[in-house]
Amino acid sequence: MKLVDVVLVGIGGYGARYVRALDDLPEARLVAVVDPMAESTEHWNTIQERGVRQYRSLGDFLAAGGRADLAVISSPIGFHQEQSCLALRAGMNVLCEKPISATMEEALRMIEARDAAGRFLEIGYQWSFSRAIRQLKEDILAGIFGDSLLFKTLVAWPRGSAYYGRNDWSGRITNDEGRPVYDSPVNNATAHYLHNMLFLGGRSMESAAHPIFIEAECYRGNEIENFDTACCRITTDEVPEILFLTSHCVERNFGPIFELRFERGTIRYPVGGSIEAILETGRHVNYGDPEADPMGKLRLCLERCRCSQQQPAFCGPEAAASLTACVEGIQRMPVHRFPANDLARRPLHSDDDVLVYLPGLVETFQDAFEVERLPSEFGVPWTSPAGSVDLTSGFGRQRRGETALKSHTKRDVMLSTSIGEDR
Ligand SMILES: NC(=O)c1ccc[n+]([C@@H]2O[C@H](COP(=O)([O-])OP(=O)(O)OC[C@H]3O[C@@H](n4cnc5c(N)ncnc54)[C@H](O)[C@@H]3O)[C@@H](O)[C@H]2O)c1
Repeated sequence: MKLVDVVLVGIGGYGARYVRALDDLPEARLVAVVDPMAESTEHWNTIQERGVRQYRSLGDFLAAGGRADLAVISSPIGFHQEQSCLALRAGMNVLCEKPISATMEEALRMIEARDAAGRFLEIGYQWSFSRAIRQLKEDILAGIFGDSLLFKTLVAWPRGSAYYGRNDWSGRITNDEGRPVYDSPVNNATAHYLHNMLFLGGRSMESAAHPIFIEAECYRGNEIENFDTACCRITTDEVPEILFLTSHCVERNFGPIFELRFERGTIRYPVGGSIEAILETGRHVNYGDPEADPMGKLRLCLERCRCSQQQPAFCGPEAAASLTACVEGIQRMPVHRFPANDLARRPLHSDDDVLVYLPGLVETFQDAFEVERLPSEFGVPWTSPAGSVDLTSGFGRQRRGETALKSHTKRDVMLSTSIGEDR
């Protein structure tokens, strides 16, 4: 069997899962790891025992004559573009963790680097690689459900001080070096679920729905630069309405749950369940659980390296960039503080890990999900009206064709309305 040589960039945090997954995949050979703080990571001893080479930067790896078939980039968001482009230029295929990048400008550079290199670039939104989501999307594209009407997702995942204090970019707009990261639940931990709605709304297996208008309420309870709670309504070229409710400032875990409504059927993903569609004919279809094989993305990328690289992407940069377009829009919204007296605190995973939360927020989100409104639209006391961003002069309309994506520049993004900042 031809082995696929892999260089793993970023081995702590989520990268540790790649180290473990690579152990279980006999077709892969980990030739080197790249991490400036490798010594402090969970798998450092194992990596040394196995004699895997270690470098502080991808540039050092390449300068030492290092080569691999696949670069897995699991570093912080601020490095995705630079490292993916470097790896592609060096002739490697790339599996880059989500989100593709902080900005659209970076995403476009990654597309150009992929095209110039003739290698593949996949973005690690694992649901888009799953059997459940791919089968569902094929049925949506085959027209079984008719036209889309409204997609909605709710996800509430508590995150405490340990999460926000673990690095120089969590909850930040830029990292210590000044690189944009736009870290928030929309761009990081729960980005999967907004991406999923955009991905399922795309007009082909390789594309996602293109956002054209965004309304959003952004809030924070934590003492962070960016927001920890967002309630968004997104209009896209393909799906008339996408509602996304997400927060880390919650007392308990809830979701993700989603509902996708079409002319001729409804698709639901309930808590901890599997995706179930009900057609107007009364027919039920079960698509399974998209969480079933979270590292299937790595196996599929190894397979792409071993077989034909010409095959279509599972989750290429064109599909992944729609989330980034939304993030760029949402970053232009004001961020409101939750009233300090309404907030509560409790230990999360340890006494040092303090969770700040807004009691009742999960229930408010459940109501918002039910009535399909943003919280400010049904009289929730702590809310502020949503800000809005019109993207129609930018990537929204221009990106109808994948090639037009290349002509987008950041200055094309037009802000039509904005409400006074209180960051
Ligand atoms: N797909 C998923 O389910 C999932 C889950 C968690 C995180 N992620 C993604 O993984 C990426 C990393 O997130 P994290 O939470 O593990 O971050 P982190 O900051 O906790 O850890 C990242 C690792 O990268 C290393 N690192 C820092 N700078 C580096 C550089 N310049 N080059 C190489 N390595 C560097 C750090 O030392 C650390 O070991 C993010 O893009 C995040 O969104 C994906």
